[in-house]
Amino acid sequence: MTADAGKAITDRLGRHVRDLRISVTDRCNFRCVYCMPKKVFGASYKFLPRSELLSFEELERVAAAAAQLGVRKLRITGGEPLVRHDLERLLERLAGIAGIEDLSMTTNASLLTRERAAAIKAAGVNRVNVSLDALDDETFMRINDVGFPVQKVLQGIENAEAVGIGSIKVNMVVKRGANEHSIVPMARFFHGTGHIVRFIEYMDVGHTNGWRLDDVVPATEIAAMIDRELPIEPLQANYAGEVAKRWCYTDGGGEIGIISSVTQPFCGECTRARLSAVGMLYTCLFATSGHDLREALRSGIDDDALRQRLSAIWTARTDRYSEVRSEATVSLPKIEMSYIGG
Ligand code: GTP
Ligand code: 5AD
Ligand code: SF4
Ligand code: SF4
Repeated sequence: MTADAGKAITDRLGRHVRDLRISVTDRCNFRCVYCMPKKVFGASYKFLPRSELLSFEELERVAAAAAQLGVRKLRITGGEPLVRHDLERLLERLAGIAGIEDLSMTTNASLLTRERAAAIKAAGVNRVNVSLDALDDETFMRINDVGFPVQKVLQGIENAEAVGIGSIKVNMVVKRGANEHSIVPMARFFHGTGHIVRFIEYMDVGHTNGWRLDDVVPATEIAAMIDRELPIEPLQANYAGEVAKRWCYTDGGGEIGIISSVTQPFCGECTRARLSAVGMLYTCLFATSGHDLREALRSGIDDDALRQRLSAIWTARTDRYSEVRSEATVSLPKIEMSYIGG
């Protein structure tokens, strides 16, 4: 092993690499209008063939190399991660990597049966973030666009809770005209349950969702809507670079988060790298190009060289897309959410 193993590296703006988000598939059983609109991701859409996906062994090698450079948190994403065959086997391998302190997953919970929840917990997942955009079927089905009922997602959340997954957050993407009427009901529903709802400003990820600034409900407006019904006050961040701004109910009913990537960007402390299902490494959610690790893995790169490759990519990083978002960059060909995993 060479000298840089175990050395925490920083990018050109002085940011460490702490989190690796791993997309394990580009497939999903939902067609959320803001993520995989049916007119693009329809019956004729060509998803990635299995042979193109990184194998579990390849994923483990990349994660282990990243851990040696300072990564402590792994988040499994998709598409929908639970559609990847045998996912639990991968989770076990990732949980066992030296240096990894937190293994979590972002899921739509549609496949989170009690058995599956128990299996991911046993494999080492200690937290899940569940996407749920409304509490009434009419709104939720209009958004997921596959007729999936709210109750089954709530059941998935209950299953995660029942098997002892310690932290469950609920992600609600807020899109103007689609579901802002669900903000207060969501806050009320999860108030006092211990689950943290995060209200997310609709972002201009990819280029298929037809994003417009007018569709964004700003964080300040979301906070004011909630505060009128259930008074809230700001909380300190848990750690520098936390994505969601934390708020708590003044009546002791728990905590919520607001993710304001559009109106109050948080690039200054961004410690996240992203690996796509085919092994492209991206240093920003809004990247227009990535670094092909699969090619390196399949041409026999050894662990030291892999770590050096990752180190070189991170130390050259200058990304701060949300802070410099402008007309010019909005129109560049960005990576789709379902491919990069959020
Ligand atoms: P925690 O570890 O629980 O804080 O999870 P998280 O909020 O980092 O991850 P999650 O997958 O639940 O993402 C919630 C929302 O935050 C999604 O809309 C993500 O796309 C968005 N998000 C996560 N990381 C970043 C980031 O680095 N930049 C931007 N702009 N958005 C992000
Ligand atoms: N803007 C904000 N959040 C999004 N997500 C998917 N697409 C968008 C978007 N355009 C969310 C999902 C999931 C997380 C990974 O990202 O709802 O909770
Ligand atoms: Fe699937 Fe999540 Fe995208 Fe919805 S937001 S289509 S659940 S990957
Ligand atoms: Fe990090 Fe890019 Fe998100 Fe900024 S826009 S917080 S640099 S991923």
